[in-house]
Amino acid sequence: MTRGEQLYEGKAKIIYATDDDDYRILYFKDDATAFDGAKKGTIVAKGIINNQVSCRIFTMLAENGIPTHLVKKLSEREVLVKNVAIMPVEVVVRNIIAGSLAKRMGRPEGEKLPFPIVEYYYKNDDLHDPMINRDHVLAFGLASEAQIDQARELALKINSILQPFFADRDIILVDYKLEFGDFHGQLLLADEICPDTCRLWDAESLEKMDKDRFRRDLGKVEEAYVEVCRRVCDQ
Ligand code: TMP
Repeated sequence: MTRGEQLYEGKAKIIYATDDDDYRILYFKDDATAFDGAKKGTIVAKGIINNQVSCRIFTMLAENGIPTHLVKKLSEREVLVKNVAIMPVEVVVRNIIAGSLAKRMGRPEGEKLPFPIVEYYYKNDDLHDPMINRDHVLAFGLASEAQIDQARELALKINSILQPFFADRDIILVDYKLEFGDFHGQLLLADEICPDTCRLWDAESLEKMDKDRFRRDLGKVEEAYVEVCRRVCDQ
């Protein structure tokens, strides 16, 4: 499969055409942004690490029955994926109170939730990805009833696979964001799952091992990404 023209450049990835419209190539960049691009920076080798981590996780999820867009890893920074029509809804799953949930509910970070919470956000940078509910998704035609219900079901199944996967590697899966897309009538897990899109805490020290180190200027960003990659990919 040869890389064709650049179709779209996002904040962390570039999407390229291939000679078959059913497939796309994703290129992972080192660029890092936060707060809708208001904070910009570079995390050295982030693209290589995120591609490696995400491919490992997507492959493991596929082996456990989750349909994904992943076809194969092509190079350090490139992956071949199915050309899904991305649903404009980000699905966030939370196991522990942190981030915007801590702020919204006025609670400290770190408290375990009684059950995983699934939230929806409208994928729209100009509006700062507002939180929405299932009714908004349906009323505004962002997804069909079948799609949003399947996305929620898949998100909870993914959570039941990912939590023990990370726990085995001494990592607490605090929360994370998923994206889904339609491919010829089938809903597939798409985008990426990596330290950019998850909150990952060391199980012993509770030290943050994810993009919060960049968002909150905590230092040792690259070291944290490398350590997540080591624990996820070397085991
Ligand atoms: P939040 O607490 O800021 O709402 O974030 C919840 C999770 O979603 C967290 O693991 C980080 C991830 N996330 C993204 O992947 N992209 C985003 O643009 C935001 C705001 C959060």
